[in-house]
Amino acid sequence: MHAGTEPDAAFGSRIPPVYLSAGFVFDDFDQARDRFAGDEPGYTYSRSGNPTTAAVERRLAVLEGGAVAPNAEAIVVGSGQAALSVALLGILQAGDHVVSATSIYEGTRGLLRDNLARLGIESSFVVDANDPDAWRRAIRPETRLLFAEPIPNPTNDLVDIEAIARVAHEAGIPLIVDNTLATPYLLRPFEFGADIVVHSASKFLSGHGTALGGVIVDAGTFDYSARPDSFPHLNTPQRALAGRTYVETYGRSASVAYTRQVVASRFGPTLSPFNAFLLQQGLETLSLRVAQHSRNALAVAAWLEGRPEVESVDYAGLASSPHHVLALKYLPDGQGSVFSFTLRGGEPAARAFHDALRLFSRMTHLGDVRSLVLHPASTTHTLLTEQERLANGIGPGLLRLSIGIEDADDLIRDLARGLAAVRALEPAALAG
Ligand SMILES: Cc1ncc(COP(=O)(O)O)c(C=O)c1O
Repeated sequence: MHAGTEPDAAFGSRIPPVYLSAGFVFDDFDQARDRFAGDEPGYTYSRSGNPTTAAVERRLAVLEGGAVAPNAEAIVVGSGQAALSVALLGILQAGDHVVSATSIYEGTRGLLRDNLARLGIESSFVVDANDPDAWRRAIRPETRLLFAEPIPNPTNDLVDIEAIARVAHEAGIPLIVDNTLATPYLLRPFEFGADIVVHSASKFLSGHGTALGGVIVDAGTFDYSARPDSFPHLNTPQRALAGRTYVETYGRSASVAYTRQVVASRFGPTLSPFNAFLLQQGLETLSLRVAQHSRNALAVAAWLEGRPEVESVDYAGLASSPHHVLALKYLPDGQGSVFSFTLRGGEPAARAFHDALRLFSRMTHLGDVRSLVLHPASTTHTLLTEQERLANGIGPGLLRLSIGIEDADDLIRDLARGLAAVRALEPAALAG
């Protein structure tokens, strides 16, 4: 709540003002020159930096960095997808290779499989993300990073990121983790060896479903000078650094400095200062919200598990989950609130349930204070073949829930309404 902000120096406003300004005036010729050269602190143009944005970056760096990464630095950008793109392009170039878990957000999978592939960057996907040898086998001489999500959605098959960080470091490369579903309240991946964390700040961090945003947090611990040939952009002299390299100039912060100065500001997915303010507001109640989200999710998942219409519930917080042991290790304070369950009766049952809900919003979004429902097989995962969907555990009767902070009894009452609609279907209408 306090990190990263000071009362405003001009008027003592307790909440820092929103600096909605494209640029910043220079007092004189010398100041303009010195700001451009980086010899004088201060701002020039909001694509390169803005005081509202910088305040929320400081807060996010403290939240993710905690005690293990006091030198962590954050960069905020316009969306979660922008955060992924900028983080990956901060490390990769044509000819490089990425190894990722298969169980990642579909947008990121598309980014790796389609967009980066067009730029000459290949990706391999590890199906059993908890088998370190599967990661080792996928690594090639040109592999430059590993990527995973600790809480994948929709099926909650948790990933043992400490084991993967070990594999990455054996190979001399960083591990990037998308921590959107856990948030730093439940899990700080740097404590388990991750080097860079990204988020869709549109979800729990902002929390209220008002603003898109994304964040990259670099722990400031990875040594990019140990294998200079793997990271040439950080180890070759730069004109902009008066002939020095990024590693010489910024040490362990070389990658985040390059990512901020060369990737984020050139590709330009700038977060609006207004959205930075909304993100800042959201972070002030992150702990309260995520604790309530997690309590509600556990209550709802346990209730669903006992219903005869429900075939299975994929929530790592349940003792019955094959991922519960990992949940106890990584998520002792709560297991998040995005999970799925599968109705007996396939798509007709899912459709009846989905359309009968009144309190849940039918939406492709998550981490909102409001509870949300989505049918992945007919929406987010339609680009997969049916075989691929089934291999990912996404059958026609599966529904994804993002549990909000409402009263759990109200949520359960709404879900009971959905199950009543399933029971009302003629038996002939039900699949399987
Ligand atoms: C885990 C995860 N990462 C990244 C994203 C992309 O974020 P955004 O929608 O803010 O671009 C999402 C969006 O749903 C997500 O769920």
